[in-house]
Amino acid sequence: MISRRRFLQLSGITAAGIIFPKSIMGATCDQTTPDVMGLGPYWEPDSPYRSVLASQFELGTRLFINGVVTANDCQTPIPNVVIDAWQANVAGCYSVFQTCDTGNPDNDELNLRGRILSDHEGKFSIETIKPGFYYLGNDRYRPSHIHFMITPPAGNTVVTQLYFEGDEYLDEDSGSSDPNAVDRIIPLVETENGLEGMFKIILDVHPDKKAVNTNIPTGENENRLQKVSMFPNPFNSRIEVRFGMRESTKVLISIYDLNGTWVRTLLNKNLNIGNHSIIWDGKRSNGQFVPAGEYFLSIQSPFETKMEKITYLK
Ligand SMILES: [Fe+2]
Repeated sequence: MISRRRFLQLSGITAAGIIFPKSIMGATCDQTTPDVMGLGPYWEPDSPYRSVLASQFELGTRLFINGVVTANDCQTPIPNVVIDAWQANVAGCYSVFQTCDTGNPDNDELNLRGRILSDHEGKFSIETIKPGFYYLGNDRYRPSHIHFMITPPAGNTVVTQLYFEGDEYLDEDSGSSDPNAVDRIIPLVETENGLEGMFKIILDVHPDKKAVNTNIPTGENENRLQKVSMFPNPFNSRIEVRFGMRESTKVLISIYDLNGTWVRTLLNKNLNIGNHSIIWDGKRSNGQFVPAGEYFLSIQSPFETKMEKITYLK
């Protein structure tokens, strides 16, 4: 059942008060809005790269979110967008910050958290469980929601939340009752696997600036990572990645295949100012060689992400 508020948001009301569905008036292209609740207290910067956030045995209803990230024309896909997702468990409890008595059968310190990269068509998928609601105090509850920090290779980060239609707490929550949240309250359908929903992310990025494999510097001073070079590229037995750090900070270096599937983490630690290098030998984390082909090397710091394409030959 669609709420009156959502119905009005989905419809177009003319000056004469006649209501036309937006589909008749022409498609709209509204950018994904930030949530008024902001980052909230439970974001953790070191979430692992994975699209399955919940162990197979995690308590709760299985939830599958499929999505696509586009530029502000609503059509041009943006690959390699970092989609950082975090959520409460079925009892409304967040890992890292709270002691959760429910679920987490694998004792995963970063349970129900993960970063996902959009693929070459801008698509991504997340498998998790439907989060529980939680108590805010003063007789108020937060509805079921998933937090997102969405960072394109070039462009601004959006920090937002996704809600679900039919939730009894939608209208009393300042995040979900914000009129700008309407496109982020999505319907879920029941399938044989669990619940499924679609999250279309539209970023304030011009289609020409989708910057698939490049990083467009926003200013000299904001560029903390300098001069990434890789040798040899293409490579056969090993590739050396060299880069300079202008500021001491945490750096995560990972390899992905062209579909955005994580292959291996090469480095995840604090680095000092100066030059650094790291080797990749063409192996996955389990020691097996990857197939010959093209891969992405991602270098991330809290301030920026650089993606470089590398080619492995056999
Ligand atoms: Fe939350």
